Amino acid sequence: MDSGSRSQVAFKNLAQLNEREAKEQIESLRKEIEYHNYHYYVKNSPKISDEAFDRLFHRLEELERRFPQFDSAASPTQRVGAKPVSRLKKVKHAVLMLSLNAVSSEKEVEDFIESVRRNGGEKEEEFVLEPKFDGFSVELVYRKGDLEYGATRGDGESGEDISANLRMVRQVPLKLQGEAPEFLAVRGEIYMSRTGFQELNKQRIKNNEEAFANPRNAAAGMMRQLDPNRIKGGPLGAIFYDILRIEGGPRLDSDWDALRQMPKWGLRTDEHNKKVTSIDRIIRYHHRFQEQREELDYEIDGIVIKVNRFSLRERLGTRQRSPRWALAWKFSPKKEITRLREIVVSVGRTGILTPVAMLEPVNVGGVTVSRATLHNIDEVRRKDVRPGDIVRIERAGDVIPEVVKRIDEPAKKRQSEFRMPKECPSCGSRVYREGAYWFCPAGLSCFAQLTGHLIHFASRSAMNISGLGEKIVKQLVRREMVRNLAQLYRLPVEEIKQLEGFSDRSAEKLYASIQQARRAR
Ligand code: IVH
Repeated sequence: MDSGSRSQVAFKNLAQLNEREAKEQIESLRKEIEYHNYHYYVKNSPKISDEAFDRLFHRLEELERRFPQFDSAASPTQRVGAKPVSRLKKVKHAVLMLSLNAVSSEKEVEDFIESVRRNGGEKEEEFVLEPKFDGFSVELVYRKGDLEYGATRGDGESGEDISANLRMVRQVPLKLQGEAPEFLAVRGEIYMSRTGFQELNKQRIKNNEEAFANPRNAAAGMMRQLDPNRIKGGPLGAIFYDILRIEGGPRLDSDWDALRQMPKWGLRTDEHNKKVTSIDRIIRYHHRFQEQREELDYEIDGIVIKVNRFSLRERLGTRQRSPRWALAWKFSPKKEITRLREIVVSVGRTGILTPVAMLEPVNVGGVTVSRATLHNIDEVRRKDVRPGDIVRIERAGDVIPEVVKRIDEPAKKRQSEFRMPKECPSCGSRVYREGAYWFCPAGLSCFAQLTGHLIHFASRSAMNISGLGEKIVKQLVRREMVRNLAQLYRLPVEEIKQLEGFSDRSAEKLYASIQQARRAR
């Protein structure tokens, strides 16, 4: 496409344009802007200056305002402002979105290769290797090159329509480049960069909003929210790795063909894709990424091994939910050794008492860990861990770090065994035992349970009260401003203003979101 030149041309006065000319210009501007977005956001090599781009963009905005009959959800101007919705619609996927069988040992990978050889009956099987992106899996559907809709994976058969949110992600093309097929459904991952994630969390904490636990949750949270404007310009990226269905397009015989074709349409693929034929290369690839995963700006939790040729895929077929031609080889959990300083007991929202290991802080795969769960008293006994011991801890993905075993120090005199307290460490009530667990019977009159309850209540999976995070809940409980849910709902804005770290504005915001949750009950 000849792009640089037209942007230099002075545009004709709007009033002089007839409908046909306007339509033509709108269409060509949309194409051109998408083309430049692609070079800017996907290729990282802009073809025109920012000013020239802005000129194109403003011209398109003007034309669309004047000729609303040509409005289209696929217009790049739609990335700038979209209406919030009250709930996400359901959509059925073009093709069942399968998941991957996941393994964690070399032996299981050998078994997989062996079964492909046995059941496929080819001379030399080719495998495509890719990192396994730890993001949010989506389906995008293009008709005649225009983005028709995008959906979450959901249960694999149908997902939620998140088109409006996806349109805000710069690396999601609204129009395909080059010659587009009649119909195209692709699968990819929306992810948040590590740096973007940290920035976003800093911002959220400043605004008294709850921080996201990890980049995957952040990406998922952004993708499933109801107001697309909150995504605008955010740190989300897209990587595509699978063509689910294509009609009226080029002939593709293999995954490798698909991976070479997608970028030509503007669908970004990962630069680390590899085609191999030997198990040695697969093992090397896995080791390399296990070592280097922290250097990437996005999170990965393993590698994916896929049979390359589609003819062989067909012969192998699929199981109920996962194909026989692909496998996820997860990374082993990150491990570290450190000293256990003391064992404390934490009380959860349901009253369960959990022994928690307080550790000498240690870096486990890029994250500083100073607490790890010991689950329950039986586990503490079984592992025989005591304060002062050296322990091995593991962190698999984003789950809570866990103490897995004690490292023996033969000559050392150890401290005495840990015992569960007789009383709740938070409220002093006498605790009782049920199976492996101890409970505090006090319910919401126990501060720890009340705190846990309120945090859960405000969380995204429950009432989603933005601005009511752990720190604030703790203040409310400690100052005895809130003793139950009803009191939270009645909390006057004046009292919120008294809390640490609140301005008038942020207090009003929190008050409004509590009232919104109250109405939504
Ligand atoms: S291929 C049949 N390649 O991991 C499935 N999936 O259950 C074909 N995932 O949600 C998918 N990175 O969306 C493939 N490089 C990659 C991937 C990948 C992440 C996701 C997939 C699914 C999950 C596994």
